[in-house]
Amino acid sequence: MFENLPKFVFFTGKGGVGKTSLACATSVNLADAGQKVLLVSTDPASNVGQVFDTRIGNHIKPIANVPGLEALEIDPEAAAEDYREKILGPIRASLPEKAVASI
Ligand SMILES: Nc1ncnc2c1ncn2[C@@H]1O[C@H](COP(=O)(O)OP(=O)(O)O)[C@@H](O)[C@H]1O
Ligand SMILES: [Mg+2]
Repeated sequence: MFENLPKFVFFTGKGGVGKTSLACATSVNLADAGQKVLLVSTDPASNVGQVFDTRIGNHIKPIANVPGLEALEIDPEAAAEDYREKILGPIRASLPEKAVASI
């Protein structure tokens, strides 16, 4: 099952189907096999930190007991706002106020 996985693997589906469990188990399995793994959660109520008994948050954090595994819990609202600002920031002054407000 873990052979020839693509570079990016997504676990998606409604709440309670096992996304977190399978993403964590897969990540540990790959890291144990010598791969360098970044486990990213975009769940605003992520419990990946709880699984590994550590605080993760919005910065990449190495998982102490699993060499090769790092994790990141992206806050989707904050990430969208950062992106909006990155695009809008440099051109804000040259746009009409009304246009800026509508973006
Ligand atoms: N393969 C599985 N077999 C049985 N129970 C599972 C399995 N995967 C997850 N669970 C259980 O189902 C519940 C929800 O799993 P979780 O990984 O938190 O789902 P999600 O992240 O999709 O909300 C948990 O109690 C978990 O222990
Ligand atoms: Mg989950």
